[in-house]
Amino acid sequence: MKTRDQFYEANEAALSVVETLGQPPPIAIVLGSGLGGLVDRLTDSVSIPYGQIPHFPRPTVAGHSGHLLIGSLGNARVLALQGRFHYYEGHEFDAVTFPIRFLQRLGVTTLVLTAAAGAINQDLAAGDLVSVTDHLNLIGTNPLRGPNDDRFGVRFLDMTEVYSSRLRTIAHEEAERIGVKLKAGVYASLPGPTYETPAEIRMLRAIGADLVGMSTVPEAIVARHAGMEVLALVLVSNMAAGVTGAAIAHDDVLEAGKQAAPRLGALIEGVVGRLSGGPNR
Ligand code: HPA
Repeated sequence: MKTRDQFYEANEAALSVVETLGQPPPIAIVLGSGLGGLVDRLTDSVSIPYGQIPHFPRPTVAGHSGHLLIGSLGNARVLALQGRFHYYEGHEFDAVTFPIRFLQRLGVTTLVLTAAAGAINQDLAAGDLVSVTDHLNLIGTNPLRGPNDDRFGVRFLDMTEVYSSRLRTIAHEEAERIGVKLKAGVYASLPGPTYETPAEIRMLRAIGADLVGMSTVPEAIVARHAGMEVLALVLVSNMAAGVTGAAIAHDDVLEAGKQAAPRLGALIEGVVGRLSGGPNR
């Protein structure tokens, strides 16, 4: 049951940003575990701590600092959310997806989600970048559960193409152009915070998942509800439980993010450059 008026709160949050910074660009990037370093590529950037934006929840996990940034990535102006909210932190879905509602009220129409994930498909390897083609929502609930607020979007949302084929094509073209390997796969989202058991990974493989993680899907659903075009780029930080027999450690996930941030940053720069009019050379 939603008790707060999220529309009102998202509006207030957006207005406070517009008052200080003017109308922001329509492209936003959400930075996943260990991937906050992507902001090093931003130039002419302004950073606003989440704590200064009305109604923003507070991140609780190491590796997720909470800042909204506005800056240039190559020739494109973008918004970046450094730090996201996960269901496993104990946040309700309204909080997990609040930043997306906030972006909707700011006028964002294109959302690039990034995340670290475990690879189930053995054609993938740690360090690979993967464009998400579709997802399995295995979190056990849906962020749109509860009364629908028609000001945000429709009650029964079509999920045929959550991850825009147009943006995926651009991502693959840009990856090719800059010499970055980009694969494709289906992402399964589980609630966490535990990593999976080997038996769970075998089940996920059997039902069609290539990747497993604990984020991305709630945000993608809400972004589609908001009418945004969504691209999700995932870094394989580890092989999923049981695939190699190695244990999974959060520090390794963060380290993999650090290693891959330059490649992922270059790819996103290429994509947003194309979206902002012309090749980003
Ligand atoms: N499982 C779930 N989430 C993850 C993993 C994983 O193996 N790696 C990074 N995030």
